[in-house]
This record gives sequence, structure tokens and C-alpha cells, in this order.
Amino acid sequence: MSIFQPDLYNGKVVVITGGGSGICFAIAKRFAEHGASVAILSRNKDKLQSAATQIESSTGRTCCFRAADVRDVRSVNLAIEEITSELGPIDILINGAAGNFLASAENLSPNGYKTVFEIDALGSFIVSKAVYEQSLSKRGGAIINISATLQYVGTVMQIHAASAKAAVDVQTRTLAVEWGPKGIRVNGVAPGPIAGTEGIDRLVPPELLESMKAKNPLQRLGETTEIADACLFLASPAAAYVNGAILVVDGGQWLNANQLI
Ligand code: NAP
Ligand code: COA
Repeated sequence: MSIFQPDLYNGKVVVITGGGSGICFAIAKRFAEHGASVAILSRNKDKLQSAATQIESSTGRTCCFRAADVRDVRSVNLAIEEITSELGPIDILINGAAGNFLASAENLSPNGYKTVFEIDALGSFIVSKAVYEQSLSKRGGAIINISATLQYVGTVMQIHAASAKAAVDVQTRTLAVEWGPKGIRVNGVAPGPIAGTEGIDRLVPPELLESMKAKNPLQRLGETTEIADACLFLASPAAAYVNGAILVVDGGQWLNANQLI
């Protein structure tokens, strides 16, 4: 079921980094369900191949894939070049590729911090630049950066990811201003805890899952399709005057972090 028109993204080309799994797979599938040709990009070719097959068979739309590490400028530029020649100029980019794990600052090595920062923050910048140079600067379009709410408060064991997502939010706001005059809207989506994802498996010990749900004002985890629908809205003409916004989709979770009783 979708409240969006089935042909909303007919003729549009959407690139989703991290689209081989989890939230970004749901985003890629949702755009394809609404008519887009999609391309997914991450490191693991087998994972991408199987995700692309699933998307194509369930939606009947084209889903191509390219294996690339978002930290590697040359492979990203080449992948974007190949996607553009296969599907045509890119209209929408979703930056979702990310890495994370639980580690206290005391136990985190400088390289651990650097690694996550480079995947999330530098990686988003590298891909945005490649898509800007090859497509968006010539014809406008939209970018959506997937961040988080970790950086809004002092989330323990997450100094690396929170720093990286704060930088991603800065990219959203700065590029919205720098690239707005070219007809490019840059917005963000900040998910809360989303069921059935690697993020939950890695970051939330199973015994804490129920209490996490209980602390959420909506008393549940989010669904991957709820993040996908936020992206469908932000990239659509209904959000034509929305630029530089970061839409929190977390059931109100982070607002509930500092209760006195
Ligand atoms: P996920 O399935 O692990 O998605 C991350 C993706 O990024 C994977 O497909 C991974 O594929 C790709 N990736 C990692 N390193 C990469 C690299 N160096 N180059 C290219 N691709 C790379 O996790 P998820 O939980 O769905 O998270 C998706 C997004 O939502 C992330 O931005 C995450 O920070 C954000 N988020 C998630 C939650 C949650 O509850 N799950 C909450 C807040 C925010 P490869 O390993 O094949 O490269
Ligand atoms: N705790 C502490 N440090 C860790 C760690 C952990 N669980 N996992 C990796 N690191 C450190 C490593 O020790 C290394 O630092 P060192 O050289 O000082 O020892 C550094 O991080 C790089 O590790 P490496 O495995 O080489 O990085 P990678 O680029 O191959 O992988 C990761 C990136 C670490 C983020 C990996 O978990 C990954 O690929 N994740 C993608 C999926 C994901 O995280 N999804 C959740 C999204 S919210």
C-alpha cells in the first residue's frame, strides 16, 4: 500500500548508496515501485546482485548496480559514469552507505574513528560531488542524506558515528545553500531505530530491545518503508520548497532522552 501515485517517479533515475541492504534497499525498492529506474552502489557485488534481482522481479523496473567503495574517488566517479550511460542522467541521489559498531571512546582506535567518519561523511561528499558534476549541475535534481539522531545528544559508544552523522547534516545544510541556485534541493532524513536492520543488530543488544520500544513515544521501532516514504516525499514536487531540512523519522525517540520522571 502506498499513498503516493504509482507513476510519481516515472522517467526518473535514482542512485542509492548502501542500497544492497536494510533501509536503503527499502528506499531503492520504493522508488522503483513508483516508476523510477534505480541504481544501487556499495562494496559487496553478490549482495548488490541479489538485491537488484529482487527489486527488478518485484517491481518490473530496472535496477542496475555497481560495486564501489564510497571512500574511493576514482571508483565512485567511474561507477557514476557507468550508471549514467546505462540509465541516463541522474535526477535523485540518496546517500545511505554507512558503517558503525559500538565502541567507547576509550576503546576506539583513531583508525576506527577515521574509518566510520570516512565512510559516512567523506563518502557522502565524494558521491554527492560525482553526481553533481556528472548530472545535477546541468539539470537540477535532489539529494537526500541519511543521517541519524545520535549526534543530537551525547550518545555513548557512538563518538565516531555521531561525529560522522553531524558532518553529514552539515553537508545537507551547506549544499542546500550552495547548490540551491542550480535547482538542486538537498535534504536529510534522520531515522530512529528501524526494525530488521543491521543498525539494530549491531547497536542494540537483544535484551535491551523491549525497553527501547517502551521508551519510544510511539512504543515501537520504525519500519524501513517509513524511511523510504520520507525520501519519496522529500524528492517529490510536494516538497518543491523544502531545502536544507532534516526530517527526523524516529517516533519522537530522541526527544524522550532526558525525562526527569
Ligand atoms: P546496512 O544494511 O548495513 O546499510 C549500510 C550499507 O552501506 C550496506 O549496504 C553496506 O554495503 C554499505 N556500505 C558500508 N560501507 C561502505 C563503503 N565503504 N562503500 C560503499 N558502501 C558501503 O545498515 P542500515 O541499518 O540499513 O543503515 C542504513 C542507513 O541508515 C545508514 O546510513 C545508517 O547510518 C542509517 N541509520 C540506520 C538506523 C537503524 O536503525 N538501522 C538508525 C539511524 C540511522 P557493503 O557492505 O556491501 O558495502
Ligand atoms: N569495535 C572497535 N573498533 C572496530 C570495530 C569494533 N566493532 N570494528 C572495526 N573497528 C576498527 C578496526 O579495529 C580498525 O581499526 P585499527 O586499524 O586501529 O584496528 C578500523 O575500525 C577499521 O576496520 P576495518 O575492518 O579495516 O574497516 P572496513 O573499512 O573494512 O569496515 C566497518 C568498516 C568497520 C564499519 C565495518 O563494520 C563495515 O563494513 N560495516 C558496514 C555495515 C554497517 O556497519 N552497517 C550498520 C550501519 S548503521
